[in-house]
Amino acid sequence: MMATPTSIEPPPERRPRRSRTRTALALGMAGLLASAGVTALTGTAEAASTLGAAAAEKGRYFGAAVAANHLGEAPYASTLNTEFNSVTPENEMKWDATERTRGSFTFGSADQIVNHAQSRGMKVRGHTLVWHSQLPSWVAGLGTADLRSAMNNHITQVMQRYKGKIHSWDVVNEAFQDGNSGARRSSPFQDKLGNGFIEEAFRTARAADPAAKLCYNDYNTDGVNAKSNAVYNLVRDFKSRGVPIDCVGFQSHFNSASPVPSDYQANLQRFAALGVDVQITELDIEGSGTAQANNYGNVVRACLAVSRCTGITVWGVTDKYSWRASGTPLLFDGNYAKKPAYGAVLSALGGSQRRLYGDVQQGRGVE
Ligand code: G3I
Repeated sequence: MMATPTSIEPPPERRPRRSRTRTALALGMAGLLASAGVTALTGTAEAASTLGAAAAEKGRYFGAAVAANHLGEAPYASTLNTEFNSVTPENEMKWDATERTRGSFTFGSADQIVNHAQSRGMKVRGHTLVWHSQLPSWVAGLGTADLRSAMNNHITQVMQRYKGKIHSWDVVNEAFQDGNSGARRSSPFQDKLGNGFIEEAFRTARAADPAAKLCYNDYNTDGVNAKSNAVYNLVRDFKSRGVPIDCVGFQSHFNSASPVPSDYQANLQRFAALGVDVQITELDIEGSGTAQANNYGNVVRACLAVSRCTGITVWGVTDKYSWRASGTPLLFDGNYAKKPAYGAVLSALGGSQRRLYGDVQQGRGVE
């Protein structure tokens, strides 16, 4: 387990004189506490004790995907508000939520999330503008010219609604196939507009909100493989031709069939070297206990090791509402208790969980 800047000393005025044995015991306990990401307050400089604050000290954000219909659940909202400093609407900004009928835009649920975040000083990631999934059936029924105009209008209307309020937008999501082909995925956009649809979407997005960072976002691109190579080539081409692109999102949905790749950091780094930011956009790792915690810690350390890795978003607040709930992939369990993975993330970010001196004396401390 990783080291942490943990202090377990009581305040100087209450510090007893120690024998060597007691000091050794204290150091042993310090290791245990450090490995759990726990600290006692001492009156000296405090390590950050929430994910958002710890990430901010590293110049990053730490966000969660949120669902508008859970914001009224007190522990959901308080966990979100306490721990995270960025949010991504999990479904509320998608095409089927914002333009279910052509030309008729509905922003109620997305507004709810944006207002919640803005009133609490949290950032917002926009997700997502052009995606083959959660796409109303009318889009697939359009002819080429109509589809082009519908895509550009959708991007423009949604981005202008939130102009100045979104730090990064997933402009195009999941446009490449899985497997070894490196080919584009079939979709109404690909099939009717051809390879140029991604470039067109990014140019339209830049015009709609010039201040927002424009990201390409995908899954199974977390290590070096045929799919990530295809995305890499797209980004390199865009950068060489001046097509606007600012960031690449790595969804990072991991489980035993799709573990954290050993070249994760190297892959993030090679994209960053192209001159774009990289963001971990939908992180979740199935499992439990120490194994899950170690994987989370490794992902966070990989991001911190890449200077252009600007933030991490976990794909949900609690296991209770995860899209993979049975795999318990998040940092808070179904009762909003912090899991070992939470301690590993906080510790990797350089933070530590707060314990009062009284707790220390009650047996969770050193003396
Ligand atoms: O909106 C309907 C609602 O009206 C209905 O009552 C309810 C009944 O089940 O279904 C609702 O839609 C569901 C929607 O989530 C909102 O809850 C869909 O059935 C369900 O399929 C949808 O799942 C979302 C999934 O994307 C769809 O592709 C997940 O919540 C969401 O976590 C997931 O997120 C995606 C990212 O956007 C892109 N990357 C992969 C990631 C995980 O699949």
